[in-house]
Amino acid sequence: MGTDPRPESTVFVIFGGAGDLSWRKLIPALYNLYLDNWLPERFLIIGTGHRHTTDEEFREHLQEGVDKFSRRGPTRDEEWQAFAAHLSFMAADLDNPEVFGELAKKLADRDKVWDTKANRIFYLSLPPAMIGPVARELGKARLNQDRKRSRIVVEKPFGHDLDSARQLNRDLGEIFQESQIFRIDHYLGKETVQNILAFRFANTLFEPVWNRHYIEHVQITVAESDGVGSRGHYYDHAGALRDMIQNHLLTIMCLIAMEPPISFGDNEVRNKKVDVLRAIRPIFPELVHRHAVRGQYGSGLIGGQPVKGYRSETNVAPDSAIDTFAAVKLYVDNWRWQGVPFYLRTGKRLPAKISEVSIQFRGVPHQSFPAASVMDWRPNRLIIAIQPEEGIFLRFEAKYPGPTMRLSPVLMQFFYREAFKSTPAEAYETLLLDVMWGDATLFMRADQTEAAWSILMPILQAWDTIRPTDFPNYQAGAWGPEAAESLLAHDGHSWALPTVLQCQDDQAVCRVTMVQP
Ligand code: BG6
Repeated sequence: MGTDPRPESTVFVIFGGAGDLSWRKLIPALYNLYLDNWLPERFLIIGTGHRHTTDEEFREHLQEGVDKFSRRGPTRDEEWQAFAAHLSFMAADLDNPEVFGELAKKLADRDKVWDTKANRIFYLSLPPAMIGPVARELGKARLNQDRKRSRIVVEKPFGHDLDSARQLNRDLGEIFQESQIFRIDHYLGKETVQNILAFRFANTLFEPVWNRHYIEHVQITVAESDGVGSRGHYYDHAGALRDMIQNHLLTIMCLIAMEPPISFGDNEVRNKKVDVLRAIRPIFPELVHRHAVRGQYGSGLIGGQPVKGYRSETNVAPDSAIDTFAAVKLYVDNWRWQGVPFYLRTGKRLPAKISEVSIQFRGVPHQSFPAASVMDWRPNRLIIAIQPEEGIFLRFEAKYPGPTMRLSPVLMQFFYREAFKSTPAEAYETLLLDVMWGDATLFMRADQTEAAWSILMPILQAWDTIRPTDFPNYQAGAWGPEAAESLLAHDGHSWALPTVLQCQDDQAVCRVTMVQP
């Protein structure tokens, strides 16, 4: 999130560098940063992996990934060759401590060649069980010693529950200082998620009404139409609550609910976010059913095509009790938000891939218009669309044209692509550049991950104890189980039908194609 010039000389070591994350996300992001001139003049990317692979084979493999996943589309040969010269492969069995000594020597040699002390970024794209051991070996090889330039990046999941998250934080904390640890929640790298900060704190208009006096409730939806795909092995032990709500949705909620920071210093922003998590009302075990709903998809239709149910997916138990849909209702016990429900929902195999925040304002205190003129009247609603297209919309009332006074809701619209005539950078581009700068504002601090787990532990414990008897309880292609509707109906509310935006690539012309009246 910085505004700095290009970072200083950097060596990126990606443990698990030949894996899927590297192929789909990390290398395409680094390649785009390179093309946009954001990478330092002197940089080196070392990917480690089990199998013996030559640099040439490694580069070819990564090029395929970039061709497929880069936001710019397929690579151009000359540009790719120039970038690929900075890529190298290191065959490494991470159970063998000697590997870390070898790595330390490689990095020291590089510093000599460059005649500088380069940033050293250790990116652990590894299964959770390997994070602690690899961090320890890095420590033994003294690769943690330069507190300013050595950084470690870890991906979620940050533990499986509160205890394991604490253990992981302790393990990392014994070797690295908190300022050296970058825990990635890739939602924080998304432009519109960051735009929530700009929207709230760079405008005078919204902050005065951003509280319990004017806002009735808040909804955060992160819907996916994809199923669990090839990740059954991981997902069948995680589920939607752990996989999405514990991190991405609570992160978005923090940005919506936090107090204005005094500055954009990394700890200041993160303190304000943690304040929100700490203020969330604890859920009593006996009241879990009033605050949380779980679901699992059965077979159904997505985009008109039949898809199988979760229990028939690869590497999923045929009687799995894992949630592929989760919805929770939370309250923030502070002056600003007392009594305002925050509804969060996420799920796989929902009708579309859509993420948005919907802020429902209260109605006017007194309706002076005659009954016939307010038939279509709706209270104001603000929609922050995060993906697939990014934008912000405000629904307000206008007079319908004609001789009589009749009110009708209309939309004021901002489309990111149309306004800025550009496609937002991928989340990983923003985040990797921030790691090179050493700016941790958009990363999760240890206390934040633990506070997020604390909120959800009563739900997880209740769900682990009581096996669901009605799974699968929603068809692929539906908006989750019926109980998710009841969660809101109980308070007299209903889920807003998400907004669908369409932007034409070349002309950057966007329109809202569906909005709840
Ligand atoms: C990941 C989850 O963190 O986020 C996945 O593990 C999920 O299950 C993904 O599909 C969604 O990310 P995005 O950026 O596609 O919304």
